[in-house]
Amino acid sequence: MCGIVGYIGKKPAFPFLLSGLKRILYRGYDSFGFGVIGKENKLNCFKRPGKLDEWEQKLLEMNFEGNIGIAHTRWATTGTVTEANSHPHWDCHRNIFLVHNGIIENYKELKEKLEKEGHKFHSECDTEVLAHLIEKFFKGNLETAVRNALKFVRGTYGLAIIARNDPEKIVVARNSSPILIGIGENEYIVASDAAAIVDRTKKVIYLDDGEVAVLTPSRFFITDINQNQIEKNIKEIDWDLEEVQKGDYSHFMIKEIIEEPETIENAVRGRLMIEEGRVKLGGLDGIQEKLRKINRIILVACGTAGYAARVGEYMLEEYVGIPTEVDIASEFRYRKPVVDKNTAAIFVSQSGETADTLAALKEMKEKGILTIGITNVVGSTQSRETDAGVYTRSGPEIAVASTKAFLGQLAILSMLAVYLGRQREMALVMGKRIVSELTKLPELAKETLKSAPEIEKLAKKYKNFKNFWFIGRKYNFPIALEGALKLKEISYLHAEGVAGGELKHGPIALIDENFPTVAICPLDSVYEKMISNIQEIKAREGKVIAVATQGDKDIKKIADDVIYIPKTLEMLTPMLSVIPLHLFAYYIAVLLGHDVDKPRNLAKSCTVE
Ligand code: F6R
Repeated sequence: MCGIVGYIGKKPAFPFLLSGLKRILYRGYDSFGFGVIGKENKLNCFKRPGKLDEWEQKLLEMNFEGNIGIAHTRWATTGTVTEANSHPHWDCHRNIFLVHNGIIENYKELKEKLEKEGHKFHSECDTEVLAHLIEKFFKGNLETAVRNALKFVRGTYGLAIIARNDPEKIVVARNSSPILIGIGENEYIVASDAAAIVDRTKKVIYLDDGEVAVLTPSRFFITDINQNQIEKNIKEIDWDLEEVQKGDYSHFMIKEIIEEPETIENAVRGRLMIEEGRVKLGGLDGIQEKLRKINRIILVACGTAGYAARVGEYMLEEYVGIPTEVDIASEFRYRKPVVDKNTAAIFVSQSGETADTLAALKEMKEKGILTIGITNVVGSTQSRETDAGVYTRSGPEIAVASTKAFLGQLAILSMLAVYLGRQREMALVMGKRIVSELTKLPELAKETLKSAPEIEKLAKKYKNFKNFWFIGRKYNFPIALEGALKLKEISYLHAEGVAGGELKHGPIALIDENFPTVAICPLDSVYEKMISNIQEIKAREGKVIAVATQGDKDIKKIADDVIYIPKTLEMLTPMLSVIPLHLFAYYIAVLLGHDVDKPRNLAKSCTVE
């Protein structure tokens, strides 16, 4: 979604703004803009709808002078994709310039009032109202004006603001939209995503809701909206620039799929205790005793993270014996969930910034429920707001479509099943079996990747079909949903995931020779049932691509094509079966010529509702 970069220091701001912005384009955007305070406090501003790289040459020729600047990528919410609606926005006197992530909910009433007071608006974008509101309160000091203005604002924001008439500073503010300050040598950098700053500094301060930071070339300070000083700890980013670069890969997505075995390895490293048949999840140490008492679990997430949660539901019910349910965050936040003091709510999110998931988390905190986060991004809002949590350690995920993070989430959920299971009835033998299989899983995942060339061939064979079913049962039902989601988001083909047993209740009506099915049918407790489903499809002339266990020769007799995965424990098969589906979606999208890393209409981490 929208991205913010800001620079204040002794070096030219523009080259840094440009390179920083380029590193967060992966979040999805439809327009961009820059504002740099130059000589005699002139504001150099350039904003356009469209792709940044198409304008890069022109921008480099313009090379705005100045050591203070802000930049933005917009993903339209209020107002269409136009130059006027892109950021920065400014006030009537072109004094205040600002970039904003989030949504101003009461912008209409604020705009009406400000218009009556004589302010002239030039866009339809909600953000513009902030520039005029700050202008109203501006009496020479930018931070005072910002604090006073924000008291009237309802909504979410990550903001970076500069003023020509108070030029030696950037004011930054946050409410429910991530923003951090990078502390460099004689310079400060503002960003909504650490990827923008990691080549300059690894020292960061994450702003919390209600905080306003003032950055000057030589110092910074943070207050709340009422000007009370706030002391914050400096945190260290624990990954490097290379991790947000493609290297020799043609797309981030394929790089991230190839990293899936390593992702499992990173998630389990140092956490498995084979002899004791236990796992160590340091982030849960503080709530160990509370966890013994819980008798119900609610998993809340969106999209791919939601499918990981669904696999988690099967794992937790089967191995922990606790009633577990999964809810889509956007639904959960508006229904009236029945919870009590022995319920734990687990939030699964790669970014830790998904607005719907965070809203659901807030709701649960309000009810005094134990909240746990399974999060990838260190320092993200979710990781800070939950009572306890476990990091997936998947490293930065840049492609908009989530792949490796899903594997990280599954690995953590399987360890959570062992953790909670061993607190309860799970026998040592069972604990040992799962833990020791988890140690082998990265190797098995590597072996699974070896079928990439075959999957590429299948992609060629199937790329011209317009509709696909993905079917699976039990642990692999959520994998069918994930396979279908991945295909539709990056190839724009119609794909639906359905539980194998549901086919006969309606979906089978669509099966014919033009509607192929990807069937996930490893040798597990529902294998026979899956075979029946495949036969039902074949009887109606549907084509079947099966994802099956190595050594299963029978499947070749009924499926049109087979992709083999190694054998593992049933509960862990999703971590292998999903790999071919990620590859299949990737290769089809590439063959169809789509922008695989930045699919149309989508954004990485949905920070608005
Ligand atoms: C799909 C995808 C999305 C995300 C969802 C949740 O490929 O990337 O469905 O999984 O938006 O995002 P996080 O995990 O950041 O909360």
